Amino acid sequence: MSVTLRGPVRDVLAFVAPFRERSRRFRDAPGEPKAPGHVTELAKALHPAGLQLRILSVRDDSPTTRTYRLAQADGSACLPPFRAGQYLSVFVEAGEVRASRPYSISSTPDEAEGGGYYELTVKNAPGGFCAPLILGTWEPGTTVRCSAPAGVFYHEPLRDGERLVCLAGGCGVTPFRSIVGDALAHGRASLALIHGATDPTELLFSGYFSELAVRYPERFSYLPIVERDGPAGVWGGERGYITAALIERLAPDASDAAYFISGPDAMRRFLADELAPWGLPSRRTRLEAAPARFGPDAWPGYPRDASSLAFTLEARIGPETVSVPAAANETLLVAMERAGLRPPSLCRAGECGWCRSRLVEGRCYSPPGPGARAADERFGFVHPCKAFPLSNTILEVPENPDR
Ligand code: FES
Repeated sequence: MSVTLRGPVRDVLAFVAPFRERSRRFRDAPGEPKAPGHVTELAKALHPAGLQLRILSVRDDSPTTRTYRLAQADGSACLPPFRAGQYLSVFVEAGEVRASRPYSISSTPDEAEGGGYYELTVKNAPGGFCAPLILGTWEPGTTVRCSAPAGVFYHEPLRDGERLVCLAGGCGVTPFRSIVGDALAHGRASLALIHGATDPTELLFSGYFSELAVRYPERFSYLPIVERDGPAGVWGGERGYITAALIERLAPDASDAAYFISGPDAMRRFLADELAPWGLPSRRTRLEAAPARFGPDAWPGYPRDASSLAFTLEARIGPETVSVPAAANETLLVAMERAGLRPPSLCRAGECGWCRSRLVEGRCYSPPGPGARAADERFGFVHPCKAFPLSNTILEVPENPDR
């Protein structure tokens, strides 16, 4: 590129001229918005507010998980594109109660192209609300309502570099099926994946990962590890947990890698202790947004014995004001959904900001991580998806655009 200097005055004028032109266009612009053109239509198709999908097929991937293949319900070929690692937030209803759950897309972006599909893998969670409903009612032909792809748990080469260490626990491996497949198919990165599961039957996609490790021996290594042997009693692989020593063994000299971590809270806390001595900068660690779950004394700073208390939440949503019970061991979002309200939500992990609400009165506890932002606390905002009440509470909740 060549740059021509024409002198201080002419160079400054060269910058001023476009601003004058811009001001003229603003001044002369018509008062009414232009009729939507094909660019607007295309943008809406690529980034819709929500999706209606139809289940094409169902398969069991383990004794406790099922994978659903979905395409556009109206038969159109165009599914919004996504980044490998993103999720869909699925809406389910039972009577008056409507709730949502984010599920990582376990298929790759290539599989969604040109009349393709998304796959969502759902694990049965005893005592849960959404998973049992989904597993009990979804079958081929069922129409499903969900959000467009969302989330920031994806590989961005400019930010993350070209070397990834992926650490998965249980069904937290689902986004890695997409991330690994996509990165290898397009030569974007070299990856090491360690997947920990309770027993060999819960090692989701192990055939898929093993095959990729054989096909790309220079760029992908895979190590499954289980807590205990399965019913067949033939496991001859690694046993135990994902430790720093195991990571070093699979990915030696990974000091420049980005660490992608997805799994249950207990595994994250264990890994945080294991990796602490390495002093990894936070920009090199990416955590998948995980919906807030709770257990007494699970988080630092939570007041002792508070989790058994019960409070009242006054929710002001648009013109409506409703008082609902709010148990201290459930998030304010769950309290509203349980009462049949429809507050907005997407990630349910404090990440997307969709549910951000003004705390008019009361006290809440937000676990560390996404959703616990100092600025929000200072200016009186909380994310109900990640806020547990510590007193009676009044919240001003944004209206749900998808009511
Ligand atoms: S639903 Fe995403 S921040 Fe609450």
